[in-house]
Amino acid sequence: MRRTLRQLTGAELSGRRVLVRVDYNVPLAEGGVRDLTRIQASLPTLEYLIERDARPVLLSHLGRPGGSPDPNCSLEPVAEALAAASGRKVRFIGGPADSAAALEASHELRPGEILLLENTRFLRGETSNDEDLSRRLARLGELFVNDAFGTAHRAHASTVGVATRLKPAVAGLLIELELAALDRLRGEIERPFVVALGGAKIGDKIQLLEEFLGRADRILIGGAMANTFLRARGEAMGASLVEDDALATARANLDRAGQRIELPVDLVVSADREAGEDAHVVASSEVPPGTAALDIGPQTRERFRRAVLQARTFFWNGPMGLFEIEPFAVGTNALARAAAEATAGGAFTVVGGGDSASAIREAGLADAVSHVSTGGGAALEYLAHGSLPGIEALDEA
Ligand code: 3PG
Repeated sequence: MRRTLRQLTGAELSGRRVLVRVDYNVPLAEGGVRDLTRIQASLPTLEYLIERDARPVLLSHLGRPGGSPDPNCSLEPVAEALAAASGRKVRFIGGPADSAAALEASHELRPGEILLLENTRFLRGETSNDEDLSRRLARLGELFVNDAFGTAHRAHASTVGVATRLKPAVAGLLIELELAALDRLRGEIERPFVVALGGAKIGDKIQLLEEFLGRADRILIGGAMANTFLRARGEAMGASLVEDDALATARANLDRAGQRIELPVDLVVSADREAGEDAHVVASSEVPPGTAALDIGPQTRERFRRAVLQARTFFWNGPMGLFEIEPFAVGTNALARAAAEATAGGAFTVVGGGDSASAIREAGLADAVSHVSTGGGAALEYLAHGSLPGIEALDEA
């Protein structure tokens, strides 16, 4: 158990500069924020602090800019979205988060205001958890709150480094909420336990799949992840996204889990990822050369739906196709509806991951499942290991 924000006294918070690590790694479109889920999820902690006269100084990453500034990954549009969502004045400092200007701004912050600093991944040393950078970032507050559940599986300077140098270091309200839901999945569960996995970050997930094999009764695999499994089973996948490095693990998983892993029997394929005008359904063993699998097909949708409706416990991470493009969102939306239906029937259902959370929200079904996690990789890793570096680094309760 880690110490939480709720365990700090009013005196420990009042008037203090509180350094808060949030996960504002959000999808951007046309200069704005396309999905507000992660911003909204951070508001309870920010309001909790402001109500107790604390002054929140926020750190976040966005994208993978690789240690130097990249205008496409600036948090500036996020600052605007945060101001609109919170109704608070949000100050934004465009220079490096470890600069003298950022430190000065943290001291000048007034009660009721929020300070958001620029992308931590613009800084060399962030992803290597550099000591000097952690020390510079730690000066931005008098205590540390980690509320970036989605990034808690990364041992970076702004997650782990700061937590070991700035005390007290406690978990925010979002992390508390997330762990309560995920701990329920790790404890005594009602069976059948069905897991659906998809999405494109295959490398990370395929390792974690091993951990699920012993626990889940059925594992439904769709989206780009299914391509790698189908390839591992010997299918020609045309121009589909296949992660060659993960083929051996996929093969081992198939050998070990046998019938419990369900792969698509049909797929929606297209030679055109942008518009999908030539999109058509083929058997998953017959993906034509030059076309890519971009969604699960109708038979697979029905099979997956039936499997989800049989579940008493359900966890889903990763879209079933390229859901950002409408013609390829059908499978993901069908799974979202099945999850909502299962919840209405009494199942405990958790949807995790940036994309899956966006999909369920866009389908208008976020309130129709038991819990929508803001973490993808983080949720999977927590389910697999029961701990995350960004949480371990916080004070013991
Ligand atoms: C996420 O969106 O999964 C988190 O923000 C972590 O991002 P990362 O995979 O780039 O570390």
